[in-house]
Parts: sequence; C-alpha cells; structure tokens
Amino acid sequence: MRLIITKNYDELSKKAAEIIAETIKEKPNAVLGLATGSSPVGLYKELIKMHKDGEVDFSKVTTVNLDEYVGLSGEHPQSYRYFMNENLFNHVNIDKNNTYVPNGLAEDAEEEGRRYDAKIEELGGTDLQLLGIGNNGHIAFNEPAEELVFGTHLTDLTEETIKANSRFFASIKDVPTQAFSMGIGGIMKAKKILLIASGEEKAEAVKGMIEGNITTKLPGSLLQLHHDVIVIVDEAAAKLLSK
Ligand code: F6R
Repeated sequence: MRLIITKNYDELSKKAAEIIAETIKEKPNAVLGLATGSSPVGLYKELIKMHKDGEVDFSKVTTVNLDEYVGLSGEHPQSYRYFMNENLFNHVNIDKNNTYVPNGLAEDAEEEGRRYDAKIEELGGTDLQLLGIGNNGHIAFNEPAEELVFGTHLTDLTEETIKANSRFFASIKDVPTQAFSMGIGGIMKAKKILLIASGEEKAEAVKGMIEGNITTKLPGSLLQLHHDVIVIVDEAAAKLLSK
C-alpha cells in the first residue's frame, strides 16, 4: 500500500483527482470504478474543474459504480445513480450509456449480481477502482462479517451504516436497509485501487486497514493483499497510525 497523508480534505481531493485524471490521460477509454458518499464529492468537483479547463476528456471513459440502494430508482434523489449524475456525470462529457450502477429495483437479486459482474468482465475489468471506507471498515457495502462475498450481491446494511447514511435522508426510517454491492472479488480484481478517507471518525478504520491483521471483520484490511493500492488520508483520518 502506498500511503499519502494530506493536510486536509481539499488537498486530499486534489491529489485523488490528479491520479484519476492521469489514468484517463494514459488510457482515454479507461474503465473507472466509482464510489458515492461524502468522501469523493471534492474530488469529483476537481475533475469537473479539470474537464472545464480542457484537461480531462471523459468521452471514451466508462464507469462502474460500487453500489446502489435496494428499492430506489435512479430518479430518487437519494439513489447512487442520482448522486453520480448530480456530482459528476451531468457536468462532464461522459456518455451516460457508458456509466453503470446496479439497478436498485431489480427483482431477481442473484440475476442482477450476475449481470453486473458479467458487464464488468465484458468491459475488460476496472483500470482504477475508487473506494471510500466506512467508519466500521466496510468497503463498498461489504460490511464486517464472518464471511465476505466474492461477486456483486444484495446485502443487509448494518445499523452503524444505516445510522451513518441517515444524514442524507429526512429520517433514519427512510434509509434503505439493503443495497446491491460489488463484492470483494470485484474490488480486488481492479488493476489499481485508490482509497480515500477524511476525518477523525475514519481514524480507527484507517488504522485497522493499514496496520491491523487481515480480517473479514474489517473488510478494508483485505486491500493489504492487493498489489497496487494508493491510500490518501487527511491528517485527521491518519491520527491513529503509528508511523
Ligand atoms: C459508497 C460506498 C461506501 C462509502 C463509505 C464511506 O459508494 O461504497 O463504502 O465509500 O460508506 O462513505 P462516506 O464517504 O460518506 O464517508
């Protein structure tokens, strides 16, 4: 793992955006695995700025998102499809037909998982997978558990995740309790991984991910097994690291 510690969230966002922009410059038809949530908002803003300044061209880029809430359509303002449109896709020259997010309304969960993984295979796999990390160490919605799932699957969200994500909803009762999530296999198959984490509430998960033993109880720790991972954290998220 290559670790970069930044002063603050702004610097983190700029560094992460540079790495993504570099990937696109090297491979204009790159397949990017993307994440939602608070962590990538700043870096998406940077990418939009770079695009408007003529520095990044998304016309040949394909994106594959990590997850989607079960029961929400792409038009729902809290859906991850909607988030991606609002925070990135609507502001750059990407072809929306080349942007993939699991279908939160799929009736057959197993079929949806198979379909999504087959699509990623068909695209030749992800060149760069962007990840955030949950306060509890989850990556995508692979929550801490005795066992983890390889492929895209339907999963129950933990109480902790529901609580953490309730900040985006009018009430905690509105937060979906299940999501489709790329599995650990889909994440680990990415050629390169970029994980970002900001803020003190992530410090424990960041420490476990980087310095702890590899355990399904902290899914981020499995990234220690990947050959090309860059972790960018700000000082607050790095505060429990020993070195
Ligand atoms: C989002 C995702 C989640 C988030 C994680 C951190 O697509 O897969 O694993 O990355 O929950 O969320 P934030 O960035 O909101 O702290």
